[in-house]
Formats: sequence, structure tokens, C-alpha cells
Amino acid sequence: MSKVNSRKDPSGRMDTDEDVSAKHLPQSVSDLPVKSGHRSLRGQVDENPCGIVLNAPRTRHPKVFIKTFGCQMNARDSELVAGMLIKKGYRLGESAEEADIVLFNTCSVRQKAEDKVWSEIGKIKTYCQFQNYKLQITNDKLKDKNKKQKISNSSPVIYHSNQTHNKKTIVGLIGCMAENYQKEAFKKSPLIDIVVGPNNIGSITNVLDDFLITRKRQVAVGRKQRREGVYNTEFISGKNHANVIIMEGCNNFCSYCIVPYVRGRERSRSADAIIEEIKGLVQKGIKEITLLGQNVNSYTAHSSGLRAHGRNKLAFTDLLKIVNEIEGLESFDFVTSHPKDANTKLFKTMAELPKCGKFLHLPVQSGSDRILKLMNRGYTRKHYIKLAKQAKEIIPKLRLTTDGMVGFPSETEKDFEDTFDLMKQVEFSAAYIFKYSSRPHTKAMQMPDDVLLEVKKERNRVLLNFQKQLHKRKNRG
Ligand code: SAH
Ligand code: SF4
Ligand code: F3S
Repeated sequence: MSKVNSRKDPSGRMDTDEDVSAKHLPQSVSDLPVKSGHRSLRGQVDENPCGIVLNAPRTRHPKVFIKTFGCQMNARDSELVAGMLIKKGYRLGESAEEADIVLFNTCSVRQKAEDKVWSEIGKIKTYCQFQNYKLQITNDKLKDKNKKQKISNSSPVIYHSNQTHNKKTIVGLIGCMAENYQKEAFKKSPLIDIVVGPNNIGSITNVLDDFLITRKRQVAVGRKQRREGVYNTEFISGKNHANVIIMEGCNNFCSYCIVPYVRGRERSRSADAIIEEIKGLVQKGIKEITLLGQNVNSYTAHSSGLRAHGRNKLAFTDLLKIVNEIEGLESFDFVTSHPKDANTKLFKTMAELPKCGKFLHLPVQSGSDRILKLMNRGYTRKHYIKLAKQAKEIIPKLRLTTDGMVGFPSETEKDFEDTFDLMKQVEFSAAYIFKYSSRPHTKAMQMPDDVLLEVKKERNRVLLNFQKQLHKRKNRG
């Protein structure tokens, strides 16, 4: 779902004021003061109405800028990180240039996605030389590295010092590349100060504290699962729409895909926690929800409500029914479904539930049985075409979209023609076509990446062009 990262960078919505004491900091998005109102606070602090000249260094809370790459899951993770930082007293900046801390929330799905991040990190260099203040944790007592608990309760503050420090912007690599590279990231880019994997984002404030105190590079990776407290609604970038994570990780191990290695094994959140989160969002004015997971059809979890009804486990379609009942929620949809797990029960549930969006993203990857097998996708071309047909029949006005890949190792012209043919038969509403990229850890990496880049580009162009023409034809009526 790499193309779907359309939500605005979270930092865009935050104020940029300085010199605001902790008690004035917004605790949630809805608390955010309008810019001009906030300015007056700065006036009170700076102008010092009593006329006494303060001899203490001026302070302000450090600004963080989060730059997000990759899928919707990453977009949501950036909000979660922003929420944790805001709660701790950090503020969000509007650009990397004005920020004290820049966090890159990254994607490893293709080499190109990673190259882009390394290049963006390289650009940070230019900001460093213009800074001349020092970033510290407020309370001196907290310099005792052993008092971890106290450190995590502290509020970070910047001292505007009279001395000129050659301050360097603090750079964090978070998300899937952090898990992929771990300590290696410091060698790849000497500008990086902290590395935090996707399942470790709950430690982000502690990691920053530790870095600020020790000035030593920090790595937090390798957690198998997040604690429930990570999912917070302190910061939501959209006004009407929000993403809600229902499950994470993947056990499918498609042979080309790095996701199971960087996101970990599949696990589902409890239905109660998901429902509580959605209700909280609705209270904040959210009307539309997208339920997120690498493979939502595998969702299975417990619910206290179900136990009362003598049942233990809850399937994805059960969750959809419960979400449909939430008062105040107007509509919801979900990504991503796997063709080997999607079935007519899902399609019927989608058709029946009035609030459920008639939208299904069902990545096909290839139309060639030989390639599908090599990809370890667990279905055939025939199965996919039948499934797509059933989905369209059962769900009126369905918007069916897909992901496709060209140039998988050993893909022949005939294999490609099979993909092209499948796309002609199914007539997707939209298709995201990717050129195969060899990824570390994966099984396909052991196969020679033998389709020439020029050939990959041409096949990519042909499929995208077909999709464009189809779109034009459908729009004409
Ligand atoms: N389960 C998720 C997959 C996320 S990856 C989902 O289905 O949405 C999103 C897409 O990236 C995949 O569907 C696939 O088309 C593409 N992709 C994954 N690994 C790739 C690779 N090594 N090279 C090129 N494209 C890849
Ligand atoms: Fe990757 Fe396949 Fe899992 Fe999707 S289903 S995340 S493509 S391994
Ligand atoms: Fe998403 Fe990219 Fe990670 S697609 S799960 S951000 S590797």
C-alpha cells in the first residue's frame, strides 16, 4: 500500500510557537490554540510585564519534525509517536529546518524507498551549522543515569545559552528501516543519533531522554510486540478521518517481502481496545475510520463482550459488525486483504453493513501461476479471478483495487502477458504497479534479479498505461 500515504505529515497541523511553559502545552489536537492566541502567551513571557530583567537563560520546549515514508501503517505510527512526544512536553515543528529533532519514519519495502530516506537524511547536514543553542533535560538531578523512572517523567527543555554551541540537529531513524539496519544505520549515516524499530516506538521518549543525557547513540529494536498504551489518540492529523491499527505483522512470508522481518509476526489487538479507541476518536469529531493491518483477514482476537455470550474468539467479519454499531461513526473501510484469506463471507458482510465502505484492496501481485507459486502467495490465477468476480457480484458498486509487481526473478514475457491479461479481465478501479526490488532476509533474494531494469520499466509502463486508458473509458461512461 505504498502509494496510499496520502494523509498529511502530522507536523503540519501543529503550532510553531516558542517560549511556552509546560502547563500551556496542548495535550491533544483539539486543545491546540490558534496561532495568534498562542503568540500572546509568548508576549507575556518575553516582555516580562513587571519590568524585571531576568538573568536566567530563556527556555523553550524542543520541536520535533516527523517525516513519514511508506504505508498507512507508518502514517498512523507517526501520529502515535507525535502523541507520545506531545504528552511528554515536546512540540511539533513545521519543517526539518526549524526542528531540534528530526525523526524519519521509514519504509524498507523497496530499495528505492530506502535510497530516498538516506538522501533526505543527508540534507539535514545543512541545518546544523546555523543552530546555536543547547538541548538539555531540565532537571539536573535527572543527569543520574540510573534514575530511569524520573527521567521518563521529566519535561525536555531547551536552554538558550549565551555561549555558542555548535548544535547538531538530533536525527532519528524510526520505522521499518530502523529494524532492517539496526546499529548498522550509524555506519550508513553518521548523522543518525537514535534508531527505533516499529515495535519499539513506545520507548521513543525514553530513548530521546537517554540520548540527551548521555549524548551517546541509542538503539531500540527487536521488540516482538507493542504494549497497548502505545495506541493513543493524542495526535490525529485528519479532521474527519483516522486510521486505527487492528493487527500488525505478517506470517505469510511472500518470498519477495521484507515486511514480516521488520514488522514481526502477526498479532491482533483486542476488540475492546480497538472499539475504545474508535469511540475516543468519534468523541474528537472523527467520522470515518480505516482499519489497518498487513493482512486484516487474519484478524482474530478476544473480546470481553463475546465471553459473556459464551464465545471466545472473534474473526475479522465479527469485528466489522461491531465497528458498524459504533454510534457517531459514519463510515469505515480497511486495508489490506489477502486473496488467500478473503472469501464470500467477507464480501457478504461488506455488502450488508451500511457503514462499511464498498472498497476492497486485494493485491494480486501477478497473473502467472508459475510466478505466484514462486512468490509463495498461496492462490492461483483462477482463484483470484473467481474471487474478484464474486466480490463484484456480491458488493454493488464495489471499488476493487490491487497491487501488481513486474520483473520478479525469472519473469518471462509469457508470465507478464498473464498479468496483463488478468488485469484486462478483472478491470480494477485502480492498480499500483511496482518494479520488483530484491530485499534482504527474503527468500527471493537468493534468486538472481535477472529481469533487466529496462524490461521492468517497460512492463510497468504497459500496465499503468492500460489502467489509465481503462480509467478514461470508465469515466466516459
Ligand atoms: N500486506 C501488505 C503488503 C505491504 S507491501 C499489503 O498487501 O498491503 C505493499 C506492496 O508492495 C505489495 O503488495 C507489493 O506489491 C509491493 N512489494 C512488496 N515487496 C516488494 C518488493 N520486494 N519489490 C517490489 N514491490 C514489492
Ligand atoms: Fe508482505 Fe505478503 Fe505479508 Fe503482504 S502478505 S506483508 S506482501 S509477506
Ligand atoms: Fe509499511 Fe514499508 Fe514497513 S510498506 S510495513 S512502511 S516496509
